[in-house]
Amino acid sequence: MTTTPASAGGTPGTGRLLVRGGLVITAAEETPADVLVEDGRIAALAAHGSSAAEAWTAERVIDATGRYVIPGGVDAHTHMELPFGGTFASDDFETGTRAAAWGGTTTIVDFAVQSRGGALREGLDAWHAKAEGRCAIDYAFHMILSDVNESSLKEMDLLVDEGITSFKLFMAYPGVFYSDDGQILRAMQRGAASGGLIMMHAENGIAIDVLVEQALARGETDPRHHGEVRKVLLEAEATHRAIQLSRVAGAPLYVVHVSAEEAVAEIAAARDKGLPVFGETCPQYLFLSTDNLAEPDFEGAKYVCSTPLRPREHQAALWRGLRGNDLQVVSTDHCPFCFSGQKELGRGDFSRIPNGLPGVEHRMDLLHQAVLDGHISRRRWIEIACATPARMFGLYPRKGTIAPGADADLVIYDPAAEQTLSAATHHMNVDYSAYEGRTLTGRVETVLSRGRVVLDGREYTGSPGHGRFVPRSTCQYLD
Ligand code: URP
Ligand code: ZN
Ligand code: ZN
Ligand code: ZN
Repeated sequence: MTTTPASAGGTPGTGRLLVRGGLVITAAEETPADVLVEDGRIAALAAHGSSAAEAWTAERVIDATGRYVIPGGVDAHTHMELPFGGTFASDDFETGTRAAAWGGTTTIVDFAVQSRGGALREGLDAWHAKAEGRCAIDYAFHMILSDVNESSLKEMDLLVDEGITSFKLFMAYPGVFYSDDGQILRAMQRGAASGGLIMMHAENGIAIDVLVEQALARGETDPRHHGEVRKVLLEAEATHRAIQLSRVAGAPLYVVHVSAEEAVAEIAAARDKGLPVFGETCPQYLFLSTDNLAEPDFEGAKYVCSTPLRPREHQAALWRGLRGNDLQVVSTDHCPFCFSGQKELGRGDFSRIPNGLPGVEHRMDLLHQAVLDGHISRRRWIEIACATPARMFGLYPRKGTIAPGADADLVIYDPAAEQTLSAATHHMNVDYSAYEGRTLTGRVETVLSRGRVVLDGREYTGSPGHGRFVPRSTCQYLD
């Protein structure tokens, strides 16, 4: 790709910018078109060589010949600086959003956390303080409910009015984030009334904790046992229970990080009944497996997350779910912990390994590889990574598509470039890559966030504080 520099004094990313000659791909269509950006928004699209496009002038013209022009990725599940297992996720909002930009993601929806005994407001204020002035790309928040009671239920309505329109509940992690069925039902009822979407971590944490204790008592302390005790049946059971509770409450349900074929089947069965039940999966479940968890010398700790990685056989059901729309979204659940000093907390006791994987930088590329491998179409790639997460979480059409009036969050994507993923070259603040040595075809070349060029032909030009908080409307996927 060549770029025509701005006229003297022109500032890339402000004023008028033109992306010429690329193939524009949205969830709806693929069109060879030029894209005119003005003051941070998409002003117009016109066919290559059309009189309209030929008449356009701009301070900067980006030549996208031979490239895709796609909407910036919307990663609806990240955990920057999440406190977990006595430590904190190693990416903060500055490093994590920079890495996201490198990978073609221009919006994240992170999880603010209610502490036990605390108010939602305190948690939300704390997350605003962490993110404010530090983000390279736009950001929004979900709220984790870890203490459902009369006052937090009331606060849910206030948050919806402020653009925090989704709430994550945990059937896992007793004593930490866990809610019992009564709390879950109440939160679902409240969400149904206000439009707040309930997101569920569906694993039977009470049963899992029994199996953890029994495994440790047998001396089964290695990382691979993390996968063994967090059984497929306990993900499927919790998914089923969450669906039934959501039916009782009359609430839509979004199940996060679905990893097991049996859980996909529960969601598919609900959807076949016409219920508003949605599922998300993550690249780690599509590309990694229990083989990674079983890596020797404690290396398996790098792959400890919950829900856990599953035997490879589950991947086909996840891809099928994504193709057939029983699963609608691929997010990363980006929650990095360094191997050194953080994952190592669980040497000799897998239950002390902080749960989570790094991934915010690689989602768009891994899913592009899935296009090349025949798992999904190009438009489905954009749908599950950009358009649907934006609609699901009330960001559309400002985010997730390329259309007049939308934010100019654009990625110029080189579908033929080869790259090798590695901790030596990635931009996430973590000392290993879950995909070390994996070669992919396709690479992000240039990224615009609200019209500002934040990655310019693989040179980083973003800055902390450019990214803004985006209040969200309620779920638009139900319309
Ligand atoms: O292992 C994970 N997924 N860590 C992040 C917290 C969560 O449950 O999403
Ligand atoms: Zn979770
Ligand atoms: Zn179906
Ligand atoms: Zn998560």
